[in-house]
Amino acid sequence: MAELTNDRFLRALMREPTDRTPVWMMRQAGRYLPEYRASRAEAGDFLSLCKNADFACEVTLQPLERYPLDAAILFSDILTIPDAMGLGLYFETGEGPRFERTVRSMADVEALHQPDMASDLGYVMNAVSTIRGALNGRVPLIGFSGSPWTLATYMIEGGSSKDFRHIKAMLYNDPETLHALLTRLADSVTDYLNAQIEAGAQAVQIFDTWGGVLGHTVYPTFSLDYMTRIVKGLKRTHQGRRVPVILFTKGGGQWLESIAASGADALGLDWTTSLADARTRVGEQVALQGNMDPSVLYASPDGIRTEVERILAEYGKGSGHVFNLGHGIHQFVDPEHAGAFVEAVVELSPKYHR
Ligand code: CP3
Repeated sequence: MAELTNDRFLRALMREPTDRTPVWMMRQAGRYLPEYRASRAEAGDFLSLCKNADFACEVTLQPLERYPLDAAILFSDILTIPDAMGLGLYFETGEGPRFERTVRSMADVEALHQPDMASDLGYVMNAVSTIRGALNGRVPLIGFSGSPWTLATYMIEGGSSKDFRHIKAMLYNDPETLHALLTRLADSVTDYLNAQIEAGAQAVQIFDTWGGVLGHTVYPTFSLDYMTRIVKGLKRTHQGRRVPVILFTKGGGQWLESIAASGADALGLDWTTSLADARTRVGEQVALQGNMDPSVLYASPDGIRTEVERILAEYGKGSGHVFNLGHGIHQFVDPEHAGAFVEAVVELSPKYHR
């Protein structure tokens, strides 16, 4: 395997000194890029992109060809695990993800297939090793998974949801069934991330996109405890190098101390939390990733630059910050504005590292 020529992302996650703040964007490979839309049309649909290692590799590299990003992220989806458990994932254009079958009872949980990483999810590991080869040490490759709670929302609701009616009813009426599902998911996510690390992922991120919809008394038991269990089960070094773990609970700003106690190396922050405040609270324990509102990319390049400067100043001097958006980039963003964002971080951040 080629040596890494740019390791500032991994160094910042370990709070080691860097020459400038590293930057990547959640959902950096996606519909805002015309070349992504062309690849998707050629592959036929989104899932075919994910399931073919050459296509997954092609679209992973597209944003890196345009922008001086410091990390690549595996092109895949968090819903590969529920699909491999037998729920039948499909995408309805403009509707987001859907499942043919849902999980609503203990019998449904017991009927789930326990996915095998080599046979059922081997296509993801092929994508990881193909991308890692193509990167040739240019930047590190991030692997990822959904959190058990976030995956369970899709499995129980049958797709995206606004009110989380079925999963919250289960949480309050039948917590035993929900815990049984979350336990199955935590085991599979641990195996899945370890398989990605074996295949070549150099850091991993757990997306707890819907953790923030939980009440403060139930977030620890229904989301954080399962992520902590996963963190403890991960392979933390591979081929002589630390494999950092990033936990991202969207809307989790009030729980930073307990999330930091999970043993993760870094926390992802959305834009509703102050980076300065987060640094004071947990900056001695973990690195911080984030946290520009993705909608700032609708502003002019000058406006974007002003916001980047403000966020850099808010974190302040020293290492331990990975610049990112506070959630995924929107599909209607102008690619030139994404470029203005990345360039602003590259140009404005060195003075915070001297
Ligand atoms: O960051 C990257 O570039 C890697 C790719 C990536 C995708 N999905 C590709 C994708 C990642 C990291 C994900 C994670 C994911 N998937 C999450 C967690 C992150 C988050 O944004 O909160 C979630 C909740 C999903 C589930 C999912 N997949 C949804 C809700 C959708 C529909 C999105 C929408 O806006 O309609 C998807 C589809 C999806 N995953 C697309 C992409 C590029 C769009 C598919 C298309 O091309 O039409």
